[in-house]
Amino acid sequence: MKFFIDTANIDEIKEANSMGMVDGVTTNPSLIAKEGRPFEDIIKDICAEVDGPISAEVISTEAKSMIEEGKKLAAIHKNIVIKIPMIPDGMIATRALSSEGIPVNVTLVFSPLQALVAAKAGAAYVSPFVGRLDDLANEGMLLIEQMVTIYNNYAFDTEVLVASVRNPLHVLEAAMMGADVATIPFGVIKKMMGHPLTDKGLAAFLADYEKSKK
Ligand code: E4P
Repeated sequence: MKFFIDTANIDEIKEANSMGMVDGVTTNPSLIAKEGRPFEDIIKDICAEVDGPISAEVISTEAKSMIEEGKKLAAIHKNIVIKIPMIPDGMIATRALSSEGIPVNVTLVFSPLQALVAAKAGAAYVSPFVGRLDDLANEGMLLIEQMVTIYNNYAFDTEVLVASVRNPLHVLEAAMMGADVATIPFGVIKKMMGHPLTDKGLAAFLADYEKSKK
């Protein structure tokens, strides 16, 4: 399973990358806005740090402008993946960019039929937002199960990129279901490493080492 990190913060990306946890990066306009720096500077810094797919999102909502914006973003670096919203114009842009060899991540996906449509349009990645579904008392992980089944049934190359991950259980369930990628906030990546028995065991080993020196 690939781990992408869901942040535009370069310090978080560097730290997670030094642990081998970063196969790629996803950003969105809200994550970029938190950084208080120009969009293009942030994307260039991320591309310099991580050798993997880096999602950069368009802000246009009309197909022609999305395609133009996508081409400009793709010219920044060879690893850029264009993030396109799951709207009808977005499918036109997805098909056009994909057919020119520019990979697309279709975002804001909340139903299995949206996921099927995005795959048919040629998306390299499709991002189902599990946390936002959970927030509305819809079971986010059910969507992952449905997407994995549909893509396997028809041998789509499109990768399931689990997004809006809020806790380690989302990652565990996504891994059990065979999702290709989870994009994970740094805080959740750190939680995934922890266990109270690890801390307790380490404290005991260190205490015993001190005793053995006497
Ligand atoms: C990533 O591609 C998505 O934009 C992100 O995971 C959304 O997360 P949120 O629902 O926590 O904002």
